[in-house]
Amino acid sequence: MAAGGPHPDALLLLGDQVYADETSRATQEWIAARRDIHQPPGGQVANFAEYVHLYREAWSSPPVRWLLSTVPTAMIFDDHDLHDDWNTSAAWRADAARTSWWAERERGGLVAYWLYQHIGNLSPAELAEDETYRAVTSATGDAAPVLREFAERAVEEIDGRKATRWSYRRDFGPVRLLAIDTRCGRILNEPRGMIGDAEFDWLETNAEGDYQHLLVGSSLPWLMPHAISHVQSMNEAACRKPGLRGRVAEWFRRKLDLEHWPAFRTSSDRLARLIRRAADSGATVCVLSGDVHHVYVAEALFPEPTEAKVYQLTCSPIHNQERLMRPLFALAWWKPLAHLLRWWMLRSPEIEPLPVDWVKRHGPDFGNTIATLTLDGASATLLLEEAEGDPDEPGLSPMEPIPLA
Ligand SMILES: [Fe+2]
Repeated sequence: MAAGGPHPDALLLLGDQVYADETSRATQEWIAARRDIHQPPGGQVANFAEYVHLYREAWSSPPVRWLLSTVPTAMIFDDHDLHDDWNTSAAWRADAARTSWWAERERGGLVAYWLYQHIGNLSPAELAEDETYRAVTSATGDAAPVLREFAERAVEEIDGRKATRWSYRRDFGPVRLLAIDTRCGRILNEPRGMIGDAEFDWLETNAEGDYQHLLVGSSLPWLMPHAISHVQSMNEAACRKPGLRGRVAEWFRRKLDLEHWPAFRTSSDRLARLIRRAADSGATVCVLSGDVHHVYVAEALFPEPTEAKVYQLTCSPIHNQERLMRPLFALAWWKPLAHLLRWWMLRSPEIEPLPVDWVKRHGPDFGNTIATLTLDGASATLLLEEAEGDPDEPGLSPMEPIPLA
């Protein structure tokens, strides 16, 4: 978000800031000097101390330190901050819980996230009211037990609720950011939710107000390539079936990562209603996401046109180099396939009609890209810049700016 100066007003990092499950060779050597990496979880991060090493490695290079020290930064985690496909489903959690190492990894990961990412998201006023922050800063001895207890509560799902909230709100003048935790806050037992109802109530309350632009930060995109979106919704319905059909659907859910917003249709539809209300009150709404290994801009189209425009802006800064990714995502945006899958999906009596349609306005791009959103009065412009040159002399190649509003 840049506004009129050489420095952006804020930097938003939308997930997978560190990879606990895919560590560098240097980190693996560091771990191997301390414990037996022939025992699970091998060269992956196992505990808080190893997370400290991971963050130090990720954020110690001079350009990154300079960036984080000069630009106000907000962040939200995604799966790899803890583990690939973290909290995909209740069955995934049950399997993780059976391993010897998951509980320690998850607690350590959340304590590290609280320290290295979460408290930087909150304003001084919010921190002053935050019970955990107060307990940590006023502790006379080691505050680790306070944070461990907090992490214990954060993962518990009781009656469709989580006891803690990682989602947060930031206001930048007439611009409001609502960052949604789409990982730890998931409700995995039926009725499933991307976040619990109480957290959604908080989100809706905080979406009210007087602002010109609403930014919804969600590591996982809300509007996806159509084919992937429809398959996810169909898979969610199939996973609810008893017996073999449900188990096969669950296998596909995990194998193909069918766990974005469309795989939580009730939540996705509730988010659509929140967004429509904001757009009807005249605020441009941009849902900002990463995660899916490519870059695109989609415009949401509601049955009744909204007062202001609504966009999904997705930018994965470092895209996955797997060869299969490009044709897969290009195919997923292919209209005939989208129409066929939509028709198939809506044959199911368990799947509600879509409350919103969307069209791709840009992309898909597959370069390593950063996105800058410039909000000036009522206008909104997106600039995508692709990395070029060799790693020793990197540069950025700007694309044609995309006017949004
Ligand atoms: Fe991710």
